[in-house]
Amino acid sequence: MMDQKDISVVFENRYGVEPSYIVRSPGRINIIGEHIDYNEGFVLPAAIDKSILVAIGRNDEYKVRLYSKEFDESYEVSLDDVAPSTVSWANYLLGVVAQFQARQAPLSGFNIAFDGDVPIGSGLSSSAALECATALALQTLFDTSFEKMELVQMAQKAEHSYAKVMCGIMDQFASVFGKKDHAIRLDCRSLSYEYVPFQLEGVDIVLLNSNVKHSLSSSAYNERRAQCEQGVAWVKEAYPAVQSLRDVDLSMLDECVKPKDGLVYRRCRYVVEEKERLLQACEHLEKGDLVALGQKMYATHDGLSKEYEVSCKELDFLVEQAKQYPDILGSRMMGGGFGGCTINLIRKEATERIISEIGKAYKEVIGWELTPYITQVEDGSSVVTQTERVN
Ligand code: GLA
Repeated sequence: MMDQKDISVVFENRYGVEPSYIVRSPGRINIIGEHIDYNEGFVLPAAIDKSILVAIGRNDEYKVRLYSKEFDESYEVSLDDVAPSTVSWANYLLGVVAQFQARQAPLSGFNIAFDGDVPIGSGLSSSAALECATALALQTLFDTSFEKMELVQMAQKAEHSYAKVMCGIMDQFASVFGKKDHAIRLDCRSLSYEYVPFQLEGVDIVLLNSNVKHSLSSSAYNERRAQCEQGVAWVKEAYPAVQSLRDVDLSMLDECVKPKDGLVYRRCRYVVEEKERLLQACEHLEKGDLVALGQKMYATHDGLSKEYEVSCKELDFLVEQAKQYPDILGSRMMGGGFGGCTINLIRKEATERIISEIGKAYKEVIGWELTPYITQVEDGSSVVTQTERVN
């Protein structure tokens, strides 16, 4: 994990004073339930041991000053002029600032420096981690008292309005509500949730980063969401009580969507099947049946690849490789898609060997490096350092 001292030094070098607070927000994995959050089903994410650190302190100039250590770039704007920017990383922070302003939070000038070890564009939600860290940093510095769930929703809206990705709530939720050694079974309709123990006996959670950078905002994500909404609209003509794919089953799709549009039908069918898979996967997890859980993960990948069409040849290659190893219980692409990581459940004694073999094959066939991460499940967002004196 990244050290908070480092970001403190970065902040001090930049702004000449120590930060008042340092906040950490993690990235996330999702065990199963992909592209389900915006369809109001259940998801099963967990926060991980990779995070974004935001250091924050006040300035006297009514200015928002931002500095990204990773890009070595800064951004400055008056609090009166906060608006979407062409500097894409700045939007994740500015969008959150705008959410505070929309709620009349008493903001004044502030400086931020941030850094992190959540790899960008890898399906581990670096953007949500940055939004959530910014939200908690502003809440702490300006002593606002938004509920945790509201901070999550503010972070999600920041992504909608500034990054222009119509994401669901899963990533921001997991970043804020994560709990060490637990996954969270979140009902994306009611927002009620339950912590599920997630300590896998003898099994590692291994992320294999394809190092293909996705761009969620590249419209494909929003297009999938729109296709789901189209399907719902057609079902609703016959079943007016239906609000989202949460309320839809296969027979309704066969009746109302299939005759209208084959592509929309396939998208919706994936979602309806994945909803069901998640519920079964939760039962497997409860019983400790990781073999059955792993089979569900493979089935999810198949659906994401063939029906929802958000995979890519590199991710498909990794999952095909995984299938050849009995010591890999399950493997699938994770997150929005079009690149990023696969999540794999691997028997511990085989992890090292398998990582090295798949890495070699990946290099040979795909032509570039694979980056493995053996993941630990950690707590969600927190204030890690406070130097501001409380009077
Ligand atoms: C991205 C979005 C999430 C979710 C996943 C797919 O990570 O931000 O809201 O939709 O894709 O499950």
